[in-house]
Amino acid sequence: MLRARKMRTLLLLLLFIYEARSHAVSTPNFVLLMADDLGIGDPGCYGNKTLRTPNIDRLARGGVKLTQHLAASPLCTPSRAAFMTGRYPIRSGMASRSQVGVFVFSASSGGLPHSEITFAKLLKNQGYSTALIGKWHLGTSCHNRTDLCHHPLSHGFDYFHGLPVTNLRDCKPGEGSVFTRALRLLVFLPLQVIAITLLTLAVLRWLGLVQVPPCIFFCLFFLAALVLGGLLCFLHYFRPLNCFLMRNRDITQQPMSYDNLTQRLTADAAQFIQRNAKTPFLLVLAFLHMHTALFSSKDFAGKSKHGAYGDAAEEMDWSVGQILDVLDELKLANNTLVYFSSDQGAHVEEVTIKGEGHGGSNGIYKGGKANNWEGGIRVPGILRWPGVIQAGLEIDEPTSNMDIFPTVAKLAGSPLPEDRIIDGRDLMPLLQGRSHRSDHEFLFHYCNFYLNAVRWHPQNSTSIWKAFFFTPKFFPEGANGCFATHVCFCHGQYVTYHDPPLLFDISQDPRERNPLTPTSQPRFREILETMQEAAARHAETLRDVPNQLSLGNLIWKPWLQMCCSSSGLFCQCDWEKQVGRGSH
Ligand SMILES: *[C@@H]1O[C@H](CO)[C@@H](O)[C@H](O)[C@H]1NC(C)=O
Ligand SMILES: *[C@@H]1O[C@H](CO)[C@@H](O)[C@H](O)[C@H]1NC(C)=O
Ligand SMILES: *[C@@H]1O[C@H](CO)[C@@H](O)[C@H](O)[C@H]1NC(C)=O
Ligand SMILES: *[C@@H]1O[C@H](CO)[C@@H](O)[C@H](O)[C@H]1NC(C)=O
Ligand SMILES: *[C@@H]1O[C@H](CO)[C@@H](O)[C@H](O)[C@H]1NC(C)=O
Repeated sequence: MLRARKMRTLLLLLLFIYEARSHAVSTPNFVLLMADDLGIGDPGCYGNKTLRTPNIDRLARGGVKLTQHLAASPLCTPSRAAFMTGRYPIRSGMASRSQVGVFVFSASSGGLPHSEITFAKLLKNQGYSTALIGKWHLGTSCHNRTDLCHHPLSHGFDYFHGLPVTNLRDCKPGEGSVFTRALRLLVFLPLQVIAITLLTLAVLRWLGLVQVPPCIFFCLFFLAALVLGGLLCFLHYFRPLNCFLMRNRDITQQPMSYDNLTQRLTADAAQFIQRNAKTPFLLVLAFLHMHTALFSSKDFAGKSKHGAYGDAAEEMDWSVGQILDVLDELKLANNTLVYFSSDQGAHVEEVTIKGEGHGGSNGIYKGGKANNWEGGIRVPGILRWPGVIQAGLEIDEPTSNMDIFPTVAKLAGSPLPEDRIIDGRDLMPLLQGRSHRSDHEFLFHYCNFYLNAVRWHPQNSTSIWKAFFFTPKFFPEGANGCFATHVCFCHGQYVTYHDPPLLFDISQDPRERNPLTPTSQPRFREILETMQEAAARHAETLRDVPNQLSLGNLIWKPWLQMCCSSSGLFCQCDWEKQVGRGSH
């Protein structure tokens, strides 16, 4: 009895302290750190003993570590669209119906529609200074190269410095091409056909069997030259045309240079914090790491135990540390919510010709980037806010990267938009221990446009059911990924459809090894029925919206191409050095 009373007094006291504090920190700052393709098996605080991430670990020690934090999609573009808007990517048209699920050209017309509301837009309306530094990957322009309708500055950010598309192998000289397969089909196959035709005609003519007019030879040669010329142009111009850095509306470096790139972006992020130390701010630092081409500066190259990937990861961790240090130096840490995550799981198929793994680790989980096995969507998720969020807590409830939207909006005092469905849920009750249950009873795992799996965490149980309507065909047999195609695809011949759906209990079988059967799980049919009904109810909430990743919106449009020129060189300039000294 006495104990209960003491407990109650203590609780009241804590509540009082919390109320007092929440008053003092009514408008926290937000620092959202988003890695690219970092696996949940990579950071030390998630169990990696050989990759050194002391700064991410420090962040986790000071806050909450989510162990079932889920990306809304296993691919960059849709995952980031969901993160920014708190909505499934299919709602904004950022879910592809074809095999290409992300933007690869800076001059594509698709992107996050202007009608979508990002958390940056909400916070800007609340008087926040807002910046996005690093990777965007949600489109650039719509109709001409200056409208920048999809650009960060059109989506609530006051300041942008970074890469409008994404880091790609093709951005780094000598790293090969992500288009190797496509080039083989589009270039080498036609070239072979032309060569064989030419040879056959020549032989037939030499044997005197047919009369071949010389213009046929000429035309075939011309065709071959055209195909070859197209290839050379593509390879030569891809880098400057797609891999450039912008500062706000201007190109600052074309093509982008990897020299001290992380250092430059980190320094700029630190300066943004310093400039805005006295006003509420939102900083999204979206790392170019760990996407290939891997890179790291002299201080990190060759220093890790895990090759180029480890070097890059340790450099990214250094960058996280720099940001945390700046917050400490300016005494902003207690008034700042810091979030760290990855847009999806590690890309397990990313192996170089020499056999060096350039993808990270998804720990014990199956699959990775581009599929909805746990390895593709279960990502690191760390939130820190000293004094408000309990330090050192670990939460295993299902949460989503879409949850950041309502969480941040509420803390900044912004109402949520009422004219649309927000799929994310406020995380604060969970993070502060006021609730022990995730608000997500159901989560829907999309592979591009296609509903791939449903996750059900029943209100009255500890089970986490996951039912797959289809699964990617891994290749070769027994492999942990789609090594023939480099990424897994979401429909057609590349997947196996399941009827009844493939059911797992993730709480018992996180590795997704043992699909349940009516024999091993007596409630098998009942569980699947509930999940299928939930999927049907969810499908009814979807509206027809323009497809931002249609072929027409994905292709390169010359009139949208941004190009800077200095000293008469076509699409080449470097004004990055001025950025550091910028007056912004
Ligand atoms: C580009 O498009 C925008 C909006 O459609 C328009 O206001 C602007 O004048 C156009 N610029 C050029 C150079 O055509
Ligand atoms: C990179 O930064 C280091 C340390 O600030 C500096 O010594 C080095 O010259 C820089 N390298 C380049 C290529 O700018
Ligand atoms: C740690 O990370 C490296 C790099 O991704 C990986 O090779 C290694 O397997 C990871 N270790 C564990 C225990 O997951
Ligand atoms: C920040 O909050 C922590 C935890 O409540 C507290 O121990 C520390 O003294 C605070 N630091 C500052 C600078 O107020
Ligand atoms: C949970 O509740 C539902 C109805 O709300 C019921 O059908 C089901 O049997 C319950 N499950 C358990 C494990 O108690």
